[in-house]
Amino acid sequence: MPACNRITRLSVVLFALLLSACSDDDTNGGVANNTQAGAGNTGGVAGSEGTGNTGGSVGNEGVGNGGTDNNGTPPVNTGGNTGNELPVQGPLTAPPGIDDEPELEPSEFNNAVGFDVYRDTQPSIPFIAPETSSADEAEFSQGLPDVVVSAPEGLDTSSNQAPFFSDLQNLDVFAGELISIRLKPEDADGGVPGMFIDFSPEGATFPDNRDGSKTFTWQPLQEDVGVFRLTVVAVDPENSLYRSAQAILIRISMPDDPSSIPNRAPTLQMPGSYTVRANDPVVMSLKGQDLNGTIPTLEIPDLPAGASFVPHPRFAGVFVFKFTPRVAGNFTFEVLARDSVDTTLTSTNSVTISVLDEQAFQIAGLSLKQRAASVGKKIGFAAKQSFYNLPDGVIYAEIAAREFDIVTPENSMKMDTINPLPGRYDFAGTDNLIRFAKLHGMSVHGHPLVWHRLLPEWVINTDVEEREGHMLEYIDRMMSRYSDDVSVWDVVNEPVNDDGSMRDSIWFEAMEERYIDKALNRARQLSPSATLLINEFDINEAGPKFDGLLALIQRLQQRQVALDGIGFQMHVFSDFSTFDELQANFETIANLGLEIYISELDVSIAGEKTPQALQQQADTYRRIAALCVEQPACKAIQMWGFTDNYSFRANFDPLPFDRAYQAKPAYQALHDAFSGTNTP
Ligand code: XIL
Repeated sequence: MPACNRITRLSVVLFALLLSACSDDDTNGGVANNTQAGAGNTGGVAGSEGTGNTGGSVGNEGVGNGGTDNNGTPPVNTGGNTGNELPVQGPLTAPPGIDDEPELEPSEFNNAVGFDVYRDTQPSIPFIAPETSSADEAEFSQGLPDVVVSAPEGLDTSSNQAPFFSDLQNLDVFAGELISIRLKPEDADGGVPGMFIDFSPEGATFPDNRDGSKTFTWQPLQEDVGVFRLTVVAVDPENSLYRSAQAILIRISMPDDPSSIPNRAPTLQMPGSYTVRANDPVVMSLKGQDLNGTIPTLEIPDLPAGASFVPHPRFAGVFVFKFTPRVAGNFTFEVLARDSVDTTLTSTNSVTISVLDEQAFQIAGLSLKQRAASVGKKIGFAAKQSFYNLPDGVIYAEIAAREFDIVTPENSMKMDTINPLPGRYDFAGTDNLIRFAKLHGMSVHGHPLVWHRLLPEWVINTDVEEREGHMLEYIDRMMSRYSDDVSVWDVVNEPVNDDGSMRDSIWFEAMEERYIDKALNRARQLSPSATLLINEFDINEAGPKFDGLLALIQRLQQRQVALDGIGFQMHVFSDFSTFDELQANFETIANLGLEIYISELDVSIAGEKTPQALQQQADTYRRIAALCVEQPACKAIQMWGFTDNYSFRANFDPLPFDRAYQAKPAYQALHDAFSGTNTP
């Protein structure tokens, strides 16, 4: 049956038909006809009601998506401009196909307990740094940049001249050449100016010559080819805030004979620090680096018994170590990086993981979700992407499963992750999270369908006239795959500016405010029973932003748009004080008949993490949670993570568990809020 073998990228509809056609030994009939008829409307991109969108996904094992059959489902909003139709013929980009289906990941790559992990199969997309070298090239040709003088307010610059450099020029060198620049700032008013450089490239030195000068030496290699900006700052001897910043541009080109560039030994990119539990399997991804721009191979010379160390199939240069430490204490192992050109060139580093025994992670008494359930609320967290590929994934999953009954993907559902190129879909992260959630009876809060950030480059570059089509296609594809598994959706994220006006996103540019109507109505059509939210930040106080949101909600309600609730992000600091305004805002939203989700709570500590600061953080958690408890419209409190180790604001230790998974005072404070222990 050649037709069965030839076709690799098919719509859900076609694939299903094809399977049945092939198994029936009948390749004519349905297949050929449908190939024609369905070509423009494939894989969940419903071109119009009643055609082709049977949703679902091909081979989406274990995620249990039975498909979203919205054939004939009437739109909830029948009035006015509902935006429920794609304005264009057929899909704008290819729908998900079988090439996009994740494959089962062998167990040496992850430490998932109780659920299968799948991985995306197509090559990873390298991060492309923003193109700055061409601009620098133009700048380079204009000669030495002008000096930038900064003077403190009130300084009399007529009686004190700024320090300065003389005789400097841009440099034009080859990779492998040794650069040496003597820098000696001067001051017309006398004295010896101080000096520092803003950034030192790897391997560079900047010794003090003890005569008022310093010498910058550096041997750039292949990785440094381009234009490098060295900024040296001279500091006035009388006033340390009076400074002159001089940039020197260094153009580094490849020599005709690359063998003239010395080959340096590769090094290991050192992993972060991790705390794990004895007898849990640990996986650790390790990667080498080489200033010569080649990819080193890694070895573990003394591989512990029972451990594995294998190259990652999708990420060049990444190797995955899997082992199970048995005893508490520091577990240390040596990793050797070997140069890929000269295999005798190596370097060795040691990696240490902190291992605690089982008791260290035990928490007595009820879990947060049991407490929350006793007052009719859910409690959740945003899951770190691919936590089962991280060294401490087992304890991460165990604490999450014990404490929470709702989960949001922190990043894996964002458009740049799911749909990085037109027609290319990386679903594995979200699929795996749903498997994990199902295993533990958690509901899933989808986040976000329409946002101005974390968009793939190709979407940002789409024509304005086609944006509506792209937005609706994305909603269709996400909801047709996940609507059976996701009960709450952040359909629109962050639509309002601080001053209350509408944010000027690529979506707003194309459809003005109606993008919100169209997105919500489409979502309702595809998943009639899901709770549909607008999610917003900085609406925890009175002011123009909340007023702007309110006005938006009222307009949407007048237009009968399918909005069920508001997500209050709540990334706050521990000195948060507008509890009364937050309470009033909750009430206002509730009075509009909408639900409330505290969707991304974290409480940052601005200064030192003293016991008092941790207590203040705990009090803030407690008082915010208590406002949800007392407000019937508030359905859930979700934190943006749960351990400080993986917070997107990790510097501020904003979460209820510390980096070693130990409960902080904030953890107890949440319990207190749910059990009514609410002393202010
Ligand atoms: C953040 C993630 O936590 C980061 O890892 C990512 O780099 C950027 O996005 N509001 C939102 C979330 O709606 O999606 C953001 O998540 C945090 C702010």
